[in-house]
Amino acid sequence: VQSEVGQHKGYEYSRSGNPTRTALETCLAALEGGRTGLAFASGLAAEDCLLRTVTSPGGHVVIPDDAYGGTYRLFSRVLERWGVAHTPVSLADLDAVRAAMRPETSLIWCETPTNPLLGIADIAGLAQIARDGGARSRWTTPSPAPTCSSRWPSAPTSSCTPRPSTSAATPTSSAAPW
Ligand SMILES: Cc1ncc(COP(=O)(O)O)c(C=O)c1O
Repeated sequence: VQSEVGQHKGYEYSRSGNPTRTALETCLAALEGGRTGLAFASGLAAEDCLLRTVTSPGGHVVIPDDAYGGTYRLFSRVLERWGVAHTPVSLADLDAVRAAMRPETSLIWCETPTNPLLGIADIAGLAQIARDGGARSRWTTPSPAPTCSSRWPSAPTSSCTPRPSTSAATPTSSAAPW
């Protein structure tokens, strides 16, 4: 409900933001101890948005050598054309990940367990490599996790308390549908 024309209470157009999505995003962020949450209609939509936010032409991303097919196609058929390079590597092999890092690496793209091979990555080990190495992005800067009240104009009735953040790094087509 808007007070009057041109006077909204934080929500103006439902695609930009709406209370239901804010509740989902806020609670997911709290559950994950994250800084904030963003919900999308599909996984690939989320990936596309994130990758175009944290990469730039001339940049580089380390990806799993068994990444989900749609993810691999996003890197190889879309981002590659925009000048973002990627190196597939086994995320279970931290030495290989470290060797794949470049000064222009802005992201280690981690999927665990992987689809469909169920590969497992050492998330803490990858986060350490990101902190030590090339992934010098704002995503490696620790910051307080959000609270419900920080994102919800009037507090929701359900309780939703964030866990303390345990990690500094949160990171940042075939015929298959995107
Ligand atoms: C690891 C992984 N990433 C991304 C996706 C894509 O998600 P969506 O089909 O919602 O775009 C999938 C789908 O199975 C997946 O397994």
